[in-house]
Amino acid sequence: MTLAPPASTPKADSSDQRRSVREMFTAIAPRYDFLNHFLSLGIDRRWRRAAVDRLGWEARPAGLYLDACAGTLDLAAELARRRGFAGRVVGADFSARMLKLGVMKALPGSVRPAAADTLELPFPDGRFDGAMVAFGVRNLTDLGAGLAELARVLRPGARLVVLEFTTPVWAPFRALYHFYFRRLLPLIGRAVSGHPTAYSYLPASVSSFPAPEQLLNHVRAAGFRDPGYSLLTGGVAALHWGTR
Ligand SMILES: C[S@@+](CC[C@H](N)C(=O)[O-])C[C@H]1O[C@@H](n2cnc3c(N)ncnc32)[C@H](O)[C@@H]1O
Repeated sequence: MTLAPPASTPKADSSDQRRSVREMFTAIAPRYDFLNHFLSLGIDRRWRRAAVDRLGWEARPAGLYLDACAGTLDLAAELARRRGFAGRVVGADFSARMLKLGVMKALPGSVRPAAADTLELPFPDGRFDGAMVAFGVRNLTDLGAGLAELARVLRPGARLVVLEFTTPVWAPFRALYHFYFRRLLPLIGRAVSGHPTAYSYLPASVSSFPAPEQLLNHVRAAGFRDPGYSLLTGGVAALHWGTR
């Protein structure tokens, strides 16, 4: 389940915030997958499938792909398991513990973990044939810089796909969603993960994250052409994309 950065003091700079985010995910890593599937009633798997469907990997099945903020590598594995995929997927995350738990699953051999900060990716310009981020960009301390860094490592013509939570706009559904997301989910998340704040910051971060139209503008501003988005599950999540 996507988590937000812990609250920072006004004095905290970007590196303090990054450290807080990394420590939070490292702390909840052992319970992350269970809570992900449990709290989303398993719908997160469908969302990741939709993200891979949008990537356009079929044009270069033997290519090199990036899963940024990869966590426990579920999205990377979803791509690697596709029939006809013959390439490699680098799953990059700055929490070594999240990656380690991902590697312990029965992953396809074409998934390679990489300890890396999405804001400073250790890859040359134009290295990848496509990139994906699931529930990651909301945790970046600088969204614009993160999207620009993803643009940098993509070759011209490659696609970026971003999966992220958003807030439903249809009022009756939104009220129900808010009750679940703001009241129940933090209680369950805290009880299961043992982390005092991580699952309270999740709804808080979604509230303060750019709405789909605004995120589309960020994707465009980062240098992606033909950007677009679609809402998933009544607007609980959104898929954005753009071409380098
Ligand atoms: C909510 S999890 C999503 C994990 C995975 N993509 C998924 O779909 O389950 C967010 C992940 O982003 C990582 N993350 C946050 N900020 C990052 C950054 N600046 N660089 C690299 N990883 C980052 C966290 O360590 C965490 O594993």
